[in-house]
Amino acid sequence: MNQEERIVSATARRDDLAEEVSLRPQRLAQYIGQEQLKDNLAIAIQAARARREPLDHVLFHGFPGLGKTTLAYIIAHEMEANIKVTSGPVIEKAGDLAAILTSLQEGDVLFIDEIHRLNHVIEEILYPAMEDFQLDLVIGQGPGAKSVKMNLPHFTLVGATTRTGLLTPPLRDRFGVLLRLEFYAPEELVAIVERSARLLGVKLDPEGALELGRRSRGTPRIANRLLKRVRDYAQVKADGLVNREVARQALKMLHVDELGLDDMDRRILLTIIDRFQGGPLGLDTLATAVCEERTTLEDVYEPFLIQSGFLFRTPRGRMATPAAYQHFGRAYPGHPPLEQPSLFD
Ligand SMILES: Nc1ncnc2c1ncn2[C@@H]1O[C@H](COP(=O)(O)OP(=O)(O)OP(=O)(O)O)[C@@H](O)[C@H]1O
Ligand SMILES: [Mg+2]
Repeated sequence: MNQEERIVSATARRDDLAEEVSLRPQRLAQYIGQEQLKDNLAIAIQAARARREPLDHVLFHGFPGLGKTTLAYIIAHEMEANIKVTSGPVIEKAGDLAAILTSLQEGDVLFIDEIHRLNHVIEEILYPAMEDFQLDLVIGQGPGAKSVKMNLPHFTLVGATTRTGLLTPPLRDRFGVLLRLEFYAPEELVAIVERSARLLGVKLDPEGALELGRRSRGTPRIANRLLKRVRDYAQVKADGLVNREVARQALKMLHVDELGLDDMDRRILLTIIDRFQGGPLGLDTLATAVCEERTTLEDVYEPFLIQSGFLFRTPRGRMATPAAYQHFGRAYPGHPPLEQPSLFD
C-alpha cells in the first residue's frame, strides 16, 4: 500500500466509524430489540433515578456488533451523566486506572470495553473501587513504598465483554446488573436497517429491507454494513433505490449467500465437511486449517453458525450438522451426534 492508499483507507475507516456513531440510538426507547434486557435495564435506571443514586455497575456480554457500546452510551444519556470511555487492553499500569478513577465525578459512567482483557493487577484496584468507592494505591517501591487510600465519587462502571466466562469470578460478582445480548430476529434487523436507511437518506423498500435483515447474521453492525454497501451498488447500478432485486444482486457480489453466510463461514463449514469428514475436530486445528485466529473463530464465526444450526460443539470438537451438508448440497454421511444410538444402552 502506498502512502496515499494508506491515508485513504484510514479516512474510509474513520468515515465508517463516524457513521457507526451517528447510527447509534441515543435513548432506550429508540433501541430496537433485546426486549428483556431493555425491560431490566429500564427498571434499574428508573429505580436509581427515583432514589437519586448512581446506577449499579452493569456488565454487558454479547458477541461483537450486537450493541454493547451503544447501550453504555444510552445508560449515560438516560442517567443524564457524563461518560468516560476506555478499554481493558489500553489500561496498562495501575497509575492509568488511578488517573481515570480520580478524574470521575459523582454519578459519572465509566465504560470499560473488553473488560476481560484487564490485567490482574489492575483488576485488583478495581475491586475496592467498585465495592466501596475506595482507591488503594501503593506508591513507590521497596522500603519507601507507601500505601495511599482515597475516597472516590460514586460512579457507575459499565463493562462489556464478548463472553462472561472470560471474566474472573471476583470481577464478575462485583457487577450488580448482568445483561446478555442475544442475536437479533430478522424482523428486528429489518427495523434497524429501515431506521439506518432513514438516517443515511437511503431509499430502501420493504422487500429490500427484508432481504438485508434476513442476511445480517443476527447482528446490527453487519446489517448496517450491508446497507451501506448495497446503497453504493444501488447508486451505481440502479437508480439509487434498494429493492429486493438490487439487494440480491449486491449481496451476491459481496459473496453473502441466501442465509447470510459469508466466505469465511463457508470456508469453515466446507473445511470441516471436505477435509475432516464432518468432524469432530478441535478449534485449534480448525483455526490453522482456515488461517484464522482461534478467538476470532470463537467470538465472531462460531456463535452464529451454532445458533443457525450449521455447527455442533461437542466435547470431542466441532462437527458439521446435517443442515450444513444440505446447505452445500452434500449428502450427510451419518447420524447427527444427538440422535446417535449409544453402544451401551
Ligand atoms: N438495537 C439497535 N438498534 C439500532 N442499531 C443498533 C442496535 N444495536 C446496535 N446497533 C448498531 O450496530 C452498531 C454496532 O453496535 P455496537 O458498537 O454497540 O456493538 P458492540 O456490541 O459494542 O460491538 P463490539 O463487541 O464489536 O464492540 C452500532 O453502530 C449501532 O448503530
Ligand atoms: Mg463495542
